[in-house]
Amino acid sequence: MSNPRIPRPFFCGNWKLWGTLSDSVSLATGVRDAVAGVAAADVAVGPGFVALATVAEKLKGSSLGVASQDGYWEQKGAFTGEVAMTQIADAGAKYAIVGHSERRQYFGETDETVSRRAKAALAAGLVPIICIGETLSERDAGQALAVVAKQLDGATASLTDDELVKSVIAYEPVWAIGTGRVASPAQAQEIHASIRARLVQRLATRAQQIRILYGGSVKPDNVAELMKEKDIDGALVGGASLTVDSFAKLVKEGVAACTRS
Ligand code: PGA
Repeated sequence: MSNPRIPRPFFCGNWKLWGTLSDSVSLATGVRDAVAGVAAADVAVGPGFVALATVAEKLKGSSLGVASQDGYWEQKGAFTGEVAMTQIADAGAKYAIVGHSERRQYFGETDETVSRRAKAALAAGLVPIICIGETLSERDAGQALAVVAKQLDGATASLTDDELVKSVIAYEPVWAIGTGRVASPAQAQEIHASIRARLVQRLATRAQQIRILYGGSVKPDNVAELMKEKDIDGALVGGASLTVDSFAKLVKEGVAACTRS
């Protein structure tokens, strides 16, 4: 057995637009019970806004955290339809996903707005999960490393070094999200290593504390090989987080792969 892995692995579900309130409660409480014995990783679920407070209430006292899928930087005012990071924290969430590629693609999110959201999440006491990742055409044009570096710099531009150390980065290649086409461990590790190197330039040794998650078609049967890579510290999981069995199995396989010597 090796020593506990640093940084501590983290597996976060992203339920996207899914389910009723009662679906959300039963999935969350099912996951809570199924991962109750998992001590070597942080685990969270990502319900929609309407279910956030109820799910958080049901999970109180357990080790399973709650993540929002977005959040706005202003706390109040004439911003119809927005949900403030402070409201999300008040509802009992611990994490806020920001800059997911679906937000960027369909809702006009930019690195600048992602950076504002991340800053507001931290100010509200939440841990931002800052998503970055290239499209297929960018990868095919040989631009993956450059695109990810630019997004990382832009999406973290407003954060102080102390804030950045508290944040989570999620590398999600757009071509792998919801497509069943997972990045190979080597493809993912190449980008994760480049993200780590860029964080080291800014933060020196403190960059080792930052969790860099991989996301994009992570499943129970491919998580282990990803987690064996040096700079992959966990996963942001869409489809496979929508049943208790698959998410609990994914978490357990992922933890086993990185605690095995
Ligand atoms: P997927 O989604 O696991 O269904 O590919 C991942 C994500 O969008 O976070």
